[in-house]
Amino acid sequence: MKILGIESSCDECAAAVVEDGRRVLSNVVATQIPFHAAYNGVVPEIASRMHTEWISGVTREALSKAGLRVEDIEGVAATAHPGLLGSLLVGLTFAKTFAWARRLPFIAVDHMLAHLYASRLTPDEPEPYPFLGLLVSGGHSIICRVDGFDDITVLGTTIDDAVGEAFDKVAKYYRLGYPGGIVIDRLAQSGDSDAFHFPLPNLHKGNRRYDVSYSGLKTAVINQLEQFRTPGKEPVPANIAASFQKTAVEILLRSLFRAAADTGLTTVVAGGGVAANSYLRARLAERKDLRCVFPPLELCGDNGAMIAGLGWQYLARGERSPFSVTASARVRAFKRRYP
Ligand code: KG4
Ligand code: ZN
Repeated sequence: MKILGIESSCDECAAAVVEDGRRVLSNVVATQIPFHAAYNGVVPEIASRMHTEWISGVTREALSKAGLRVEDIEGVAATAHPGLLGSLLVGLTFAKTFAWARRLPFIAVDHMLAHLYASRLTPDEPEPYPFLGLLVSGGHSIICRVDGFDDITVLGTTIDDAVGEAFDKVAKYYRLGYPGGIVIDRLAQSGDSDAFHFPLPNLHKGNRRYDVSYSGLKTAVINQLEQFRTPGKEPVPANIAASFQKTAVEILLRSLFRAAADTGLTTVVAGGGVAANSYLRARLAERKDLRCVFPPLELCGDNGAMIAGLGWQYLARGERSPFSVTASARVRAFKRRYP
């Protein structure tokens, strides 16, 4: 079954065709980065306007790259939450309209569950459930137990900023470029990660055991830099980037490794923009006792393939979303259950 997946939750206007939930026939991502770069962050009004202008063309390109016609599509999936409301509404409404016009089954899906699904879009044998999920993006940092594509239990989450958001804010403050994650990742490669020793949050007790926090690190890097400098080491941008990145990843890994030890789960499946981080990947690769699965780089960030793949899972189970389904910026009550 060939599913068209539409993703427009933030600044990527994306459409893809995936067959039977696994085989990516096309995956088109039109990024708006150059249009937001001048503001060092996504401007919601610009994002939704650009989605409106681009969504038809991007979908047409996804069909043509897959060598398909509109009539070949057998189902439609779109992101309904979480994300920027105006942006979500464009993709969701487009997808609903496409499905309605073609009399096709339609399904609205959750963006973070789709990130988690991205690693299954490869020819490799998919990881058997249960496993630990590490969902790290610009809006979320979630450590969870995964028992099925739509069955996850949140073990830990951020109590303030998301990890990707911390990368973005540090990059913005030091004018390193936009988007911050990839810029810091690159810059850090020529930096000394021992140039600064930033503090780690103290969150290892009770039900905070697997939670993470980034506001302390962000404040240290932005407002108290000198205080954490190693004597004799230069406060140059590459050193700031490397030291920040090391601490940001350490914060995630401390909670993740604690969750692995406590649950006895030995497989970790990552997803989301920050799963592209080279230092995070290297650190996880060092753990020979854990099997760590990452999506291919092009499927870490936002894309339509993960939406189509996840959508197929629901459609194959006979589920459909009503056309009355609407977008929501946040996922309600996701503290320990998600979505
Ligand atoms: O999943 P995503 O594309 O969009 C959201 O759902 O938020 O994630 C975007 C986030 C941004 O904060 C971006 O800076 C971060 O992922 N990111 C990275 C890297 N590439 C993207 N963070 C660290 N290292 C990277 N290589
Ligand atoms: Zn995302």
